[in-house]
Amino acid sequence: SLYCIASLHRSGSHFCGGSLINNEWVLTASNPCNYKKKYLFNGCGECLTLVLPPYSSTSLTNANEVSRNVSQIIKHPAYNSITEDNDITLLHLSSPVTFTDHIRPVCLASANSTFFKSTVSWVTGWGNIRTGGKVLILLTLIIHNILYYCSTDCKCLYGVSTITDNMLCAGPLEGGKDSCQGDSGGPLVSKQGSVWVQSGVVSFGNGCALPNLPGVYARVSKYQNWINDLTGIE
Ligand code: ARG
Repeated sequence: SLYCIASLHRSGSHFCGGSLINNEWVLTASNPCNYKKKYLFNGCGECLTLVLPPYSSTSLTNANEVSRNVSQIIKHPAYNSITEDNDITLLHLSSPVTFTDHIRPVCLASANSTFFKSTVSWVTGWGNIRTGGKVLILLTLIIHNILYYCSTDCKCLYGVSTITDNMLCAGPLEGGKDSCQGDSGGPLVSKQGSVWVQSGVVSFGNGCALPNLPGVYARVSKYQNWINDLTGIE
């Protein structure tokens, strides 16, 4: 099955990624994706473009894309802009989208899910280091757990206090593959059978694609209750 990744636009240009989680909600990051409430409430709204597919390069102009304005931005109440803890935000669409062969939601990792080290994952986005900046790129990544005892685990790589239990890390230790600026808010997914499951939201990194500094993602499974309460997704 397919899922949609969202491109958040301001004045016609891409600034963040996101994922469609049901027909009226998009999941994205808090930083830097939600700072323009002033646009929202002065009547401009945000143009949100949902584009498929996630698995091959495609231009931002896609015959199957749909656009919606964002009517409500719900930043996680415990988001910490200094530590980037709880870097997750929900966007309510001005009107629901209709699911088609091309517009489908992604499943979310449930609260009890564990992403073991070496789970193969994918991240997509229109961020930096991309030809023209508007080409959707798919990267295959490997998840690193955040255990403290191992020299290659994420808390060791970044420092124990940098990586909280609300985060997960993904990327090859040798570097070279990573999300980057402009990819924020986009989904990190893995495939469980034929179903795409979102495990992370692109959040931050020390540089991009550097050795021993994998990308850091908000750990979606930690937010099941918060998301369910607000969106009604079971
Ligand atoms: N916060 C960044 C953005 O503005 C995303 C950084 C992701 N960095 C990384 N090395 N994976 O889009």
